[in-house]
Amino acid sequence: MKPERLDKLLAAQSTFSRKDVKAMVRKGLVSVNGLVVKSADLKIDMEKDKVSLCGEPVSISKYSYIMMNKPAGVVSATRDNRERTVIDLVPQELLRDGLFPAGRLDKDTVGFLLITNDGDFAHRILSPKNHVPKTYIAQLDQPIDEEIMVKFEEGFALDLNTDCKPARLKILETGKRELVEVILIEGMYHQIKRMFEHFGRKVVHLQRIRMGALYLDESLAPGECRELTQDELKQITTKI
Ligand code: URA
Repeated sequence: MKPERLDKLLAAQSTFSRKDVKAMVRKGLVSVNGLVVKSADLKIDMEKDKVSLCGEPVSISKYSYIMMNKPAGVVSATRDNRERTVIDLVPQELLRDGLFPAGRLDKDTVGFLLITNDGDFAHRILSPKNHVPKTYIAQLDQPIDEEIMVKFEEGFALDLNTDCKPARLKILETGKRELVEVILIEGMYHQIKRMFEHFGRKVVHLQRIRMGALYLDESLAPGECRELTQDELKQITTKI
């Protein structure tokens, strides 16, 4: 990766402007590899150099990957005139320019949402061609039967223009409010709800628990998020 100016890099990776960064450099608050920086135009190698702000290490990678435990009641968008968005929930210290939710969960769906500013990675994990599985737990208003199990496994036409690719379906708890696990490799609008609706079942609760091989971190309370490690990022593209 080509070296970048310190002020440009820090401004892109934080909510500080370039002017703010220059002021902090003048005050001696920025150091690189343990040495206080004298000039904001110092060239930084993102792979090797360690940057600190007021003594705290700053992540200077170009991209950011955040796991959110999405709560119900917020929309998967970057901006909305009326509704609270998932980006509104990202804490100040994790905010970066260009963050967006990689794929949408419905307003009432909860669980694992990836938020990033890496468009290529988002495309890679969302394109059905790449078969990155997304695992959901759905609670239904009625039990399912063998026909539904077979149709999910084979794939079926939702309507004249919409074909669903084969999905995996497993019953976790039988009963009046049946609990099932669904694994999809695509993410069409309201897909799971529409798939069950096709067979006269209503999804009463929906949670995404896994992307690729990476599970939602259960220590995150609804609405909380944290940055992913490089290893966790790899797990998203790992086959299950
Ligand atoms: N399927 C749905 O119906 N809704 C979601 O939010 C995700 C998958």
